[in-house]
Amino acid sequence: MGDMETEKTDGAVEIARGVYWVGAIDWNGRDFHGFTTPGGTTYNSYLVVGEKTALIDTVKAPFAGEMLRRITQIIDPSKLDYIVVNHMELDHAGSLAELKKQTDAKIFITKRGVDILNGYFRGLGSENWDLEVVQTGDELDLGGKTLMFLEATMLHWPDSMETFLKEDRILFSNDGFGQHIATSKRYDFEVGDVIPDAAEYYANILMPFHMPLLRFMGVLDKMGVDPLQIAPSHGIIWKQDLKKILEAYRAWANGEVNEKVLVIYDTMWGSTEIMATEIAEAVRAAGVEVKLLNLRKNTRNHIMKEMLDAAAFAVGSPTLNNGLFPTVGDFLVYLKGLRPQKKKAVAFGSYGWGGGAVKTVEKELKDTGIEVLEPGLQIRYRPYEKELERCRKLGEQLAAVAKEQ
Ligand code: FEO
Repeated sequence: MGDMETEKTDGAVEIARGVYWVGAIDWNGRDFHGFTTPGGTTYNSYLVVGEKTALIDTVKAPFAGEMLRRITQIIDPSKLDYIVVNHMELDHAGSLAELKKQTDAKIFITKRGVDILNGYFRGLGSENWDLEVVQTGDELDLGGKTLMFLEATMLHWPDSMETFLKEDRILFSNDGFGQHIATSKRYDFEVGDVIPDAAEYYANILMPFHMPLLRFMGVLDKMGVDPLQIAPSHGIIWKQDLKKILEAYRAWANGEVNEKVLVIYDTMWGSTEIMATEIAEAVRAAGVEVKLLNLRKNTRNHIMKEMLDAAAFAVGSPTLNNGLFPTVGDFLVYLKGLRPQKKKAVAFGSYGWGGGAVKTVEKELKDTGIEVLEPGLQIRYRPYEKELERCRKLGEQLAAVAKEQ
């Protein structure tokens, strides 16, 4: 096939001889279990045709028809020999029951995947499905095409797996290397730079699992997996920028940071915003990159993308009813789940009488495993020159911390 544009086969897309994208494009998906997706997403499913045929992953249930139409352009779905379930989360496995109505294809899945499969599909026929448990290094010979399975435990579920097509050197990486993008194009070189989308995906889906990721990358090296294409189950296929995304994943998994500070806040009557702006200005004046992020103007997932390479951050909350402002509480809960590594943080905020928000922010940050710079900065009512000077000092402290990293 030509390298300059995606070759079309009646809706299916041939990505190597006898290997087809047969997934679905979710143009209007705007929320992926809390991950805001203004650009939609894709659920990528791939059909590999040797003497036997295998489908790698399915799509979210409402898109089963779209996937089946694409498969039908290549083969009769009832003749499908095998289904590879790289991951049982329902954006990839959701169409299994619909697909199994049409085919007796045997399912290849990890041991942990079987438990999840039966958890979701018992009562929908899974007790009668033909399953074969596979582990790292096991191979499935399709006749002219060989699939090798690679367990990717906790990337990001216990069952996660990736599959390597040896002859064409395509790594079907499931959630790994994914991006939430809806596009009619299938390749990186057709759409421009999608590393920022991959960064946002990594920060919000894979960030807590940097150790399993580093281990998995070691397994790829050990097993001699040297792909020419990485075909994830969300977004575009990596070909032109393949080395770039692999290097980016290594850097993210190692927690590499830049001289960069985030000032994340919400405000009630404007005082915490004045503080945030003054802190950010002092960071900038010290020659360090800074991002000022109002929690009601930025999605959680955008803030976490910015967090990925930040060395330090400040979290500002007004005190409401002796505690956190709700958006700040929401953010801190989300942050705790993602457990960013190698960052320092400080709390700040305004209050009227009892106070409380700054101490709560500090506690939540410590519970997340973040090194907290104490004491945080609390200001009563509205900051004036003396208080603004304290904000500037805090900004300078954050800039110095960022420069030390
Ligand atoms: Fe894209 Fe973990 O599912």
